[in-house]
Amino acid sequence: MQTITDPAAMRAWARARRAEGRRIGFVPTMGYLHRGHTSLMDLARPRCDALVVSIYVNPLQFGPGEDLDRYPRDPEGDARKCAEHGADVLFMPPDLYAPGHATTVHVAGLTEGLCGAHRPGHFDGVTTVVARLFGLVKPHLAVFGEKDYQQLATVRRMVEDLAMDVEVVGAPLVRDADGLALSSRNAYLSPAERARALSLSRALRAMREAAEAGEREAAALVAAGRARLDVDRLDYLEVRDARDLRPVEVIEAPARALVAAWIGRTRLIDNMPLGPTAP
Ligand code: PAJ
Repeated sequence: MQTITDPAAMRAWARARRAEGRRIGFVPTMGYLHRGHTSLMDLARPRCDALVVSIYVNPLQFGPGEDLDRYPRDPEGDARKCAEHGADVLFMPPDLYAPGHATTVHVAGLTEGLCGAHRPGHFDGVTTVVARLFGLVKPHLAVFGEKDYQQLATVRRMVEDLAMDVEVVGAPLVRDADGLALSSRNAYLSPAERARALSLSRALRAMREAAEAGEREAAALVAAGRARLDVDRLDYLEVRDARDLRPVEVIEAPARALVAAWIGRTRLIDNMPLGPTAP
């Protein structure tokens, strides 16, 4: 595995692989890698000839007062995990934007509710960095986790709307044995906070079980979930259409339960498919 830090060198590498007819796979991350991230590499590896993993804590997607300055980092451990999971290139630019950078990619609609309502500008930061990374890495295929379900839907929309020639692959959400969705931000949690963080996945499971038992009313499902939550602040707990993320009142098509909540100073998100008809 080689490490590339210079964006121009990354682009030159990608051009050369394309000229050889290689299929480039790409897993963008912000580092502090865990099994959720490595599962994306494992999914990409057999589908490409050359695998690039990027690590870049993108300032554009953090709001004022968010955790940009304390986002956890482990460059040596990350490099080892990337090598173990078959990455050919670890792209770790110290900076990604050229002076004078003036372009924002905005996906309307999909980004307005859920996390978009609580983190203004967040998804613009995500789509802008992903578009720039795609320009440098030139992937044929890019893998994103269902952990960030709204992000995955937004990236799919961007790729479709801007006719980017990238196959976007969604990867299943990876959890710890106790049900907690793996996240780099779990590192912030004290043991007592971590115990309470389990209430997010418990709430979603309660909603899924109620849906499987035949409950179709979103309001009743949300009430079942809310009763299980033990959080300091709830940003949202909602049932949405699994494909376009439209709000759902009565489940008639594949649906998704999504939650975002604060435990102390840590904001956590999780989601789960609802009902036997879910994808
Ligand atoms: P980050 O939070 O590091 O996540 C990188 C990728 O790993 C995302 O596609 C995310 O959905 C996936 N991922 C994280 N935890 C996961 C889990 N438990 N199971 C499955 N997949 C998981 O998401 C970002 O970084 C950034 O927004 C990025 C796309 C890199 C743009 O800056």
